[in-house]
Amino acid sequence: MFQYNNVDVRLEERLMKLYANHRERAAKIDWSYHDFIPWEQGRSFKTDPWNEGQRSLPLPIYTAIETALLTEVNLPWFTTHLSITFKGSLDVLQDFIHTWTAEEDQHSNLLETYLILTRNANPHELHTLRKNVVEQGYESEFMVPTQVMGYTAMQELATMVFYNDVAKVAQPYDENLSTLLRRLAKDESLHYVFYRDAVKAHLELEPNYIYHVAHVMKNFVMPGGEMPDFEKRMQLIGQGAGYGPEQYYHQVLSVLVESWGLNHLRPSSSEAEEARINLLKFHERLKRIIERKSLRQREIS
Ligand SMILES: [Fe+2]
Ligand SMILES: [Fe+2]
Repeated sequence: MFQYNNVDVRLEERLMKLYANHRERAAKIDWSYHDFIPWEQGRSFKTDPWNEGQRSLPLPIYTAIETALLTEVNLPWFTTHLSITFKGSLDVLQDFIHTWTAEEDQHSNLLETYLILTRNANPHELHTLRKNVVEQGYESEFMVPTQVMGYTAMQELATMVFYNDVAKVAQPYDENLSTLLRRLAKDESLHYVFYRDAVKAHLELEPNYIYHVAHVMKNFVMPGGEMPDFEKRMQLIGQGAGYGPEQYYHQVLSVLVESWGLNHLRPSSSEAEEARINLLKFHERLKRIIERKSLRQREIS
């Protein structure tokens, strides 16, 4: 059994370049998050208590935003996991985690402020839910650096696609919300690029790393899986907020199969090659399921 359990020091320079590129791009983004909140809608809950009639977003869109918020709130645990994974590894990875945490740290605040200020959320319920989700925390089964980089690349891409797709559906109901979601997607896009290219660098140096990356790609689930009613939430979001298995297949999994050149990768280890082939078969199977599903939907409509 081969072992590729650490970050190869030969990649230090390349990772430093990726980090420098990230900082350069992030510096060009406007961090005036306060501009994305419609403060003029703010009213006191003491003089004007919340009631359900104040909600303006359709349920699937509200659920999409709340689910994103409840995923982003576990940032302390995501940071902990990344920090432990890369402890004692290259400094550049620790540096990136610091930058990444500072950027991610804004996301849950922004979504929460938006939902409460616009009175889409029941503030008491949302605060309770948030506390429970953070208390529950997050643990990952992926502990090997290349697994974690692969997982994070997928999760960042999925989140970027999620925000952009929900932004499209939300546009007719709430233009401010769409703008806010597209702004968040920009951060996720830069995070995705860093991890995607970090994984690519590993695979180019040593194609056998596919053993770990393929495992993650086959078993990927979003990090919010532990929150209450996760399956129900995802179903509702898939039906009415623009992000479901079809979007995952086309805009996440297939994009990474292509970006990481998995069809042409040639690992020398038989276990790594087997993992690659199994992943490609899994990708094909998923394609057939998605095609059958969209055919059925076309027949019904
Ligand atoms: Fe985020
Ligand atoms: Fe991110």
